[in-house]
Amino acid sequence: MKISVIGSGYVGLVTGACLSEFGYKVVCIDKNKKKIELLKKNIIPIYEPGLSDLVKKNTKAKYLSFSDNLKHIKGSKIIFIAVGTPSARRGDGEADLKYVFEVCKELAKVLNKKDKPIIVTKSTVPIGTGKKIINLFKKFCPSLQYEIDYNVASNPEFLREGSAIEDFLRPDRVICGVNNQVSLSCLKELYRPLNLREAPVLFTDIESAELIKYASNAFLALKISFINEMADLCEKVGGNVQMVAKGMGLDNRIGSKFLHPGPGFGGSCFPKDTRALYASFKKNNVESTLIKSVIEFNERRKLNMVKKIINILGKPYKNKKITILGVTFKPNTDDLRESPSLVIIPKLKKLGIKIYAHDPSYNTTFSSIKEFKGVMWKKNTFDAVKGSDMIVIHTEWNEYRGMDLSKIKKLLKSPVILDLRNIFNKNELNEMGYLYYNIGSKK
Ligand code: UGA
Repeated sequence: MKISVIGSGYVGLVTGACLSEFGYKVVCIDKNKKKIELLKKNIIPIYEPGLSDLVKKNTKAKYLSFSDNLKHIKGSKIIFIAVGTPSARRGDGEADLKYVFEVCKELAKVLNKKDKPIIVTKSTVPIGTGKKIINLFKKFCPSLQYEIDYNVASNPEFLREGSAIEDFLRPDRVICGVNNQVSLSCLKELYRPLNLREAPVLFTDIESAELIKYASNAFLALKISFINEMADLCEKVGGNVQMVAKGMGLDNRIGSKFLHPGPGFGGSCFPKDTRALYASFKKNNVESTLIKSVIEFNERRKLNMVKKIINILGKPYKNKKITILGVTFKPNTDDLRESPSLVIIPKLKKLGIKIYAHDPSYNTTFSSIKEFKGVMWKKNTFDAVKGSDMIVIHTEWNEYRGMDLSKIKKLLKSPVILDLRNIFNKNELNEMGYLYYNIGSKK
């Protein structure tokens, strides 16, 4: 079976590489010629563990290829659309579907009667997009008949950055939104290799599939915000939020995942998708208090982290030095999108505080980000903490979990740590002579 994946960004590349691993002939297409040239040389423009090896292996075996020409979809049984759906510039949070619709218009020019492909959205798209896509094709290729010459389906992705390959190959579930038996059979065949590994494949209508993606991300964001709110209460009245999360998580109905408190969720998905889901509620005049408060709480949380930091640092702030360990929105990625650090660092700088930072995924683009202007980037944690008044653990990279805390204590000006990810044991750190603060327990 030949498969085309249009859009060779994060989702498209992972999807294409993993499907080629199953022995399908996959062509990943992107209009960005430079990116395709790099991919042809097996240079991967994103940081995702395991992806590079998978791409190398399957291009060598000729299962995977790259092209900047949409004509190369010819002969594909399935065409995935995996282009970005950023927040629209209008500022109302709605997803901007212009890239999806542009692809559809271009596709309409090259589709032919013979291939009878299924056009499947992988991009995260709001409810009703499938219908709009069908109408676009009806308009732009009137000679082809929907459900006879081509089909449209929805197959949202649930990949986490940093573990995307594992998530694709061993998913909790696969969701396929289809309108008819032809699409159902074709997607069933596509995911048969996963089904053999007993991953449940759920078939729904297109609208439900579109909603499942947003509902899942919004629910996880809500879970995180819930535990962050509980952490705030613990800090005031006592109790330890980690024990609270553990106790709650042992109830199978709740589950222990996504109950880790922190500086607020970030990344390219939760913030954007909660805003887009809220926009769908608003647009359709359906009341949503929950999602709205998750969005607002998460924004306030980042500012509250600044208050927390400066309360511990103490006045006068000017010329004091803080070391931030980890700036990405989570570990195992170099992605900074909507990372809490982009809010926290500029606020601290404004108070005259000097920022030294370290991140295992640091690359020179970090230095050119306006929010990070003036930050002193260090190659290792020891250099980063030298003479510092305080360490703030922002991202829970494994490298920080095992760092030599005795040596670090000697290098610091004051042995103060604020651990926004709760990676250390409070008693141990106190015994070592640190003034240790974490999230969700009273000092
Ligand atoms: C998220 C979802 O987990 C994926 O299922 C989904 O496919 C993806 O979005 C998407 O829509 O494409 P991702 O953004 O890569 O994946 O990252 P997560 O691991 O979900 O973390 C998101 C944010 O929540 C991070 O800032 C992380 O630090 C924070 N988080 C996560 C917490 O603060 N506490 C937790 O317990 C879990």
